[in-house]
Amino acid sequence: MESPYLSYFSLKEEPFSTVPSPRYLFLTPVHATALSKTEFVVQTKKGVAAVFGDTGTGKSSLARLLHQKFLDHGLHSALVTNPNYPGPYSLLRTIALELGVPRVARSYADMLLVFKSFLLTEAVKNKKTIVLMIDEAQTLRLPLIETLRQLVNFETNDEKLLQIVLFAQEDLRSKLAHPRGRNFRSRIVMASTLDRLGPGDLAQMVDFRWRVASGGQEHPFDTEAIEALYDYSGGTPREAAILADASLLLAFLEKEKRITAATVKRAAHEREVNLEGQKEAA
Ligand SMILES: Nc1ncnc2c1ncn2[C@@H]1O[C@H](COP(=O)(O)OP(=O)(O)OP(=O)(O)O)[C@@H](O)[C@H]1O
Ligand SMILES: [Mg+2]
Repeated sequence: MESPYLSYFSLKEEPFSTVPSPRYLFLTPVHATALSKTEFVVQTKKGVAAVFGDTGTGKSSLARLLHQKFLDHGLHSALVTNPNYPGPYSLLRTIALELGVPRVARSYADMLLVFKSFLLTEAVKNKKTIVLMIDEAQTLRLPLIETLRQLVNFETNDEKLLQIVLFAQEDLRSKLAHPRGRNFRSRIVMASTLDRLGPGDLAQMVDFRWRVASGGQEHPFDTEAIEALYDYSGGTPREAAILADASLLLAFLEKEKRITAATVKRAAHEREVNLEGQKEAA
């Protein structure tokens, strides 16, 4: 259903949807650096890159942006979003299917051979760059991390045949520190960490998203309203987007065209009351 406030604010789309759309990703210097480091690893075929970050900091959005960029540049890219498979065979089979490996084998060992021969044909003979992007990589269990290690081991003297990019919350760090994860960790050639936004970046993010959604118009948030968005979200982009959206709805219901700090505060308070219950929030 279309948001009720779209026409009221002359918007073409929702500016603060929490779908990880690459079009709405504002590249802060930190996001831009993570993007270029990852592109570098993939394009120079160095093997594994990782992007870490707390929930709601833009990992899935960045994953989709990179995936699209890779496809646009003719790379062979697959994006796996829930790698929490029951075992190595099902993970490998999924990866193979996503990458368009033409054949499946019944056993894990045979599937590895099929996969290797696919990589040799595509990467060496057809000179394709093959990229496997894994979102929510913190859910990978240790045996699955071992499978990924086996896959990056396929290499020639000059390059890795498969490039892997992991997007993960903090939990992956401790898994990689485990003795059974360390082998794979040593193959990560570049890691980046997405952070919460500072007040300046958050203001720019609101401006950027509004322009995308409205076709270049200026946003209706007062300076103090933006400050309140920062204070209540702690700079986490997803929280800020949720609050900005709720504030818009409140302003619409009250027939206000500008968003004030008081409106943001009310939106934040209502969210808190509903998530935590009346007593705790009071
Ligand atoms: N740099 C940014 N610019 C604009 N919006 C952002 C930015 N980072 C995150 N967002 C927004 O925050 C929301 C959450 O982003 P995303 O889903 O990419 O986060 P995530 O890091 O994958 O979170 P999780 O770990 O919970 O999966 C989305 O609406 C996204 O558009
Ligand atoms: Mg995500």
